[in-house]
Amino acid sequence: MNIDYKTLMDKAKEASQNSYSPFSRFAVGAAVLTSTGKIFLGCNVENSSFGLTNCAERTAIFKAVSEGERELVAVAIYSPNSDSCYPCGACRQVLYEFQGDEQEIEVITENLGNLEIKKLSYFLPNGFRI
Ligand code: THU
Repeated sequence: MNIDYKTLMDKAKEASQNSYSPFSRFAVGAAVLTSTGKIFLGCNVENSSFGLTNCAERTAIFKAVSEGERELVAVAIYSPNSDSCYPCGACRQVLYEFQGDEQEIEVITENLGNLEIKKLSYFLPNGFRI
């Protein structure tokens, strides 16, 4: 599939505007592209009971999966509060769960304004699967 990296990053930026992050004041947005070409957006949603916080990536992934889209091909991640925002360990494993057999998920980040594109295995080699 032809992936429009810039569009996906723009969507992640858009999603970060909905971040609910009054505790960390660290906003994050994510946009996931599925194998059918649909894009799902997510932001981090924090909670007074801190452990209940949901990362932007998992918000977007769970939205996709709950709409019947289980095969992810790319994800863009963005924070307006950081020069570069990479997915946390938990989100790497959740991304891995929904990686299809055909192709690796591409992870798009922005480092000081430059797009960086890497395969999920760069961030999570030998991910866990049952
Ligand atoms: N966060 C994300 O949304 N995604 C990540 O990959 C890393 C962390 C959020 C969680 C929390 O709301 C804030 O960033 C600070 O940890």
